[in-house]
Amino acid sequence: MLAVMSIPPTTDRVAEPAIQVQGLEKSFKQLKVLRGVDIDVARGSIFALLGSNGAGKTTVVKILSTLLKADAGTARVNGFDVATQAADVRESISLTGQFAAVDAILTGRENLVLVARLRHLKGPGAIADDLLRRFSLTEAGNRRVATYSGGMRRRLDIAMSLIGDPPVVFLDEPTTGLDPEGRLEVWQAVRKLAEGGTTVLLTTQYLDEAEQLADRIAILHEGRILVNGTLNELKQLLPPAEVEYVEKQPTLEDVFLTLVGARAEKEQR
Ligand SMILES: Nc1ncnc2c1ncn2[C@@H]1O[C@H](COP(=O)(O)OP(=O)(O)O)[C@@H](O)[C@H]1O
Ligand SMILES: [Mg+2]
Repeated sequence: MLAVMSIPPTTDRVAEPAIQVQGLEKSFKQLKVLRGVDIDVARGSIFALLGSNGAGKTTVVKILSTLLKADAGTARVNGFDVATQAADVRESISLTGQFAAVDAILTGRENLVLVARLRHLKGPGAIADDLLRRFSLTEAGNRRVATYSGGMRRRLDIAMSLIGDPPVVFLDEPTTGLDPEGRLEVWQAVRKLAEGGTTVLLTTQYLDEAEQLADRIAILHEGRILVNGTLNELKQLLPPAEVEYVEKQPTLEDVFLTLVGARAEKEQR
């Protein structure tokens, strides 16, 4: 009779959160930016770190991606300690900053092939084509990035950061500066990422972005996480809404997208 192989205990990496942050502190001279930040991010989920300008969102992302050292606290990414296993953390992540890092002189495809080559991956052309398809850039792939819209550039930027399939992706304000259509395009790309099993930590100052995308939302304010939960959990923190009879007015975004969407359809005909 064959011995039944024992299943490894739950110490394996899959069981623990993709990102674990405890008591993170960071000051720049007198300025205490982080005063004890705790975060857990489950594998394959989208986590939004929400905060106004200067709240410390980029500082958190920089510490998690080993670009900056914390003064106190611990952080683990993909099971690795950012302070003592920095190289393993870097192998596990990608970081897309607020400003697109693509080369505008090259085509979208050339940008992707270049990065795949730099990473010594086999079949850079096939990797590029696959990413172009996943981010709906196949048709634009052979055009110079200089001709791309903001949304297309940002999508290409995210696609570039996925070369090598990192399990954890940091997106620092992925849609800041984009027009409404560009934002929707990037949101779709981010959703697809998480559907594919990638863990996404994004920072944003937009409430609607967190609302639309995130499985969990944490609000960073004055150096601490004020609240952390699902959208529904956060909504329950406020007293129940009073029922009033009001006409629901469309938002400006509804109006904009309806008009622009209608026109785009007309032009296609
Ligand atoms: N290298 C640095 N030196 C000094 N102050 C910094 C540095 N990086 C960030 N800060 C300050 O820390 C605070 C938080 O910055 P940041 O993490 O970039 O905020 P956010 O990304 O939420 O806008 C800001 O007041 C910023 O000016
Ligand atoms: Mg920032």
